Amino acid sequence: MSREKRGVREIITAEDTEIVDAWARKIFNSRGEETIEVEIYTGTGYGRASAPSGASVGAHEVVAFPEGGIDAALEAFENIVAPEIIGMDADDQEGVDRKLWELDGTGNFSRIGGATATATSFAVAKAAAATHGIPLFQHLGGAMACLLPYPLGNVLGGGKHSKGLGPDIQEILVIPLGADSMYEAVRANIVVHSRLPKVIRKYDPYFAGGRNDEGAWTSCLSNDKALEAVYEVCREVSRELGIEIRMGIDVAASSLWNPEKGKYIYIRDKVERSPREQLEYITSLVEKYDLVYVEDPFHEEDFNSFAELRDRVGDRCIVTGDDLFVTNSERLKRGIEVRAANGIIIKPNQVGTITRAYETITLAKEHGYIPIMSHRSGETESEVIAHLAVAFGCPIIKTGTVGGERIVKLNELIRVAEYLGKRAKMNKAPLRKFMR
Ligand code: PGA
Ligand code: ZN
Repeated sequence: MSREKRGVREIITAEDTEIVDAWARKIFNSRGEETIEVEIYTGTGYGRASAPSGASVGAHEVVAFPEGGIDAALEAFENIVAPEIIGMDADDQEGVDRKLWELDGTGNFSRIGGATATATSFAVAKAAAATHGIPLFQHLGGAMACLLPYPLGNVLGGGKHSKGLGPDIQEILVIPLGADSMYEAVRANIVVHSRLPKVIRKYDPYFAGGRNDEGAWTSCLSNDKALEAVYEVCREVSRELGIEIRMGIDVAASSLWNPEKGKYIYIRDKVERSPREQLEYITSLVEKYDLVYVEDPFHEEDFNSFAELRDRVGDRCIVTGDDLFVTNSERLKRGIEVRAANGIIIKPNQVGTITRAYETITLAKEHGYIPIMSHRSGETESEVIAHLAVAFGCPIIKTGTVGGERIVKLNELIRVAEYLGKRAKMNKAPLRKFMR
């Protein structure tokens, strides 16, 4: 019997994965802002992807849109990007990503837009995976990519995501470190989220069930009361489910930092803290709430305070840089030199391509930093980061708890786990030392 008669796929050749068509359109993200979506066609495959966007954007991120905004980005795609990538091999992710960088030529994607680059890079990877008839995580990570990330979910929030109407701390998060499966892990975070309103109401009788940009509850609680509420629910649900669920925070301290005063301004708590006081305050929170995760506790230029905090609590807490590192390998190298932080947020759109994000993840792992794959506060229905987390072996994914644009990533991971069957394992090893 011939190969075709037995239904055996023909061997894929570079001809099949050649990019034959590409275009872009405007769509909307979860905040209702315009963003770019890109479609890539190969001979027999197709990929479509969009770019997310941040509210608390790091000063050193690539520029999301060129001057002229979304329309200029579409124009750049049509005139600069599409003509050059048509004819390239979608299997050559690194080559396409390098081409995007060269075509832009500014060193920060300000000519074609970081969003344009991100959506293109994602769409090319999806088109290649589809051409091969395999899932995206397998296309990028290979047959040995079987480790699933622990979901780190924002349950109670403030800062810019709540338009200044919540606590000063941008995010209070939970992570079910004791979960043995993806489904159990996702569910644990959801149970915490769904129990919280009852406790929030105890402290804030006016709480009306409001949720912020990332689907976290938002209420005008003091920072301490907000942390206490989550702590209480976390312990209750941990006991009930028999799973270790721990707490974390994203201070997004660049948003609190006043460079003229040299202080962090806590509007809700009516407190101002010097960098030294901030260090003491954060250390006290790690102790009081047994925090396993602290993101951006200091502003984005203060590498030294990140190093001091790591020195103090790094054996039990993942001290993470988001605005500090902006997924950039050069910024991470600076951090490695002074031992600043021991975790790094990976937001591919901060650097504009899958390749650049991958390089930073590789560097992080080499130096014992935990890479945390992350969404943005303005998301789309894209499932791509779920695949990137598995492909590149990130032990944690930070992608909210509920809400369509968040749950789409978590549901995709449940599907990935099912697809992998017995091979699927939670990526526990790098996190073991942080467990109780
Ligand atoms: P952003 O916030 O997507 O609004 O930047 C998320 C974060 O700070 O982690
Ligand atoms: Zn952050």
